[in-house]
Amino acid sequence: MRRIALLLVAVVMVAGVVVCMVPPSQHADAETAPIFGGEIPPGYRDWPLISVAREKGKLQDLRAKLGNDVAIKAYRSGNGSFPDGTIIARLAWSYVPWEESDKVLGPHNSFMAGSPKEGVQFMVKDSRKYASTGGWGFAQFNDGKPTKVVVKSCFSCHATIKARDFVFTRYAP
Ligand code: HEC
Repeated sequence: MRRIALLLVAVVMVAGVVVCMVPPSQHADAETAPIFGGEIPPGYRDWPLISVAREKGKLQDLRAKLGNDVAIKAYRSGNGSFPDGTIIARLAWSYVPWEESDKVLGPHNSFMAGSPKEGVQFMVKDSRKYASTGGWGFAQFNDGKPTKVVVKSCFSCHATIKARDFVFTRYAP
């Protein structure tokens, strides 16, 4: 009996050592670990506006970029890089005719945001955790739920704008 107990203790100890030996990069694998613990950042919809954009072609949408306080401070300081803790959100909506506005401004004059499209995407800066993708984690939520994203493919485009710390959107004054 005592021998079994000793054996069990030994097994538990070995398992503990093995777990501790796993390098930190595998604990927090940027490819698989759910960003924000899989929860959409609370209150993101109330964050200040960075800028808006209009996509044509395949996307056909209107979009807005919002930033948390760290992001807005970094943008306004204008030094072109973002500290850890920065979060930038990208929202998009369909681009639809605006009947009531057309009535006063003339036909086919006005367009507005329709239903949400293409999920809400986030970039979060954590230079240690996401070192392999320029210090940025990438996430997408569809209807408020996390979607599996191929971080490497997000980064493949964003890598082209390294000179601006991998962020395309400029602050609209
Ligand atoms: C095909 C290239 C491409 C891919 C792939 C891509 N992005 Fe982007 N992303 C852009 C461009 C270009 C912009 C700026 C244009 C815009 O959205 O108006 C942008 C903007 C953003 C922004 C706003 C901050 C910024 O850089 O302007 C976020 C957040 C974002 N993308 C997240 C993601 C996430 C998350 C993924 C992966 C699911 C992703 N992106 C994949 C090209 C790409």
